[in-house]
Amino acid sequence: MTTTRRATVADLPFLEEVFVIAMDWNPATAKGAEYWHTDATFQKYLGGFPRSTDFGLVADRGGEQVGAIWTRYFTADDASYGFVADDTPEISMGVVEGRRGEGIGRALLTALIAASNSDLSLSVEDGNPAEELYRKQGFVPVGRVGNSTTMLRSERRDAGPS
Ligand SMILES: CC(C)(COP(=O)(O)OP(=O)(O)OC[C@H]1O[C@@H](n2cnc3c(N)ncnc32)[C@H](O)[C@@H]1OP(=O)(O)O)[C@@H](O)C(=O)NCCC(=O)NCCS
Repeated sequence: MTTTRRATVADLPFLEEVFVIAMDWNPATAKGAEYWHTDATFQKYLGGFPRSTDFGLVADRGGEQVGAIWTRYFTADDASYGFVADDTPEISMGVVEGRRGEGIGRALLTALIAASNSDLSLSVEDGNPAEELYRKQGFVPVGRVGNSTTMLRSERRDAGPS
């Protein structure tokens, strides 16, 4: 059985693993953990986790960490891959190899959306099947950066007609 819980500072090494999984989703262009650990984006997305405004969830199965998702706020003058606005945190997520396609990613994203009370953004590279998961969860394309699509899920969509 898979359970989902809040990520703590003790989960940081696993989140770092998941960051590499997310950045290297495409084996053809994967750079490897050593590269990412020295790249500025690594600190940008995970440095000091959990900051007071970070929010993360970890999926455990049989006592093992199998996936994680987290959000972090960025600013226009230090924009991230999927930056939309200062008040819109950006999602990073990944599931360990061998556990994909079992519903863990969907469970993590659903739980994060349920716990969130703001718009959410993310960036997904062309060809990543994760885009379908995001669309199914209400994310829509709002921009392009290089070969990636920026997607946004508006919180107001849950408010219903006014
Ligand atoms: C993307 C990822 C987090 C999804 O988690 P997962 O547990 O594998 O996905 P789930 O089993 O919950 O599937 C949910 C949906 O994702 C989509 N999906 C995920 N992987 C897919 C694949 N390889 N092929 C097709 N669709 C896929 C499908 O729409 C699926 O819905 P369905 O079951 O109704 O068809 C995971 O596959 C992963 O870590 N991939 C590598 C890292 C990555 O790409 N991170 C995101 C960077 S933006």
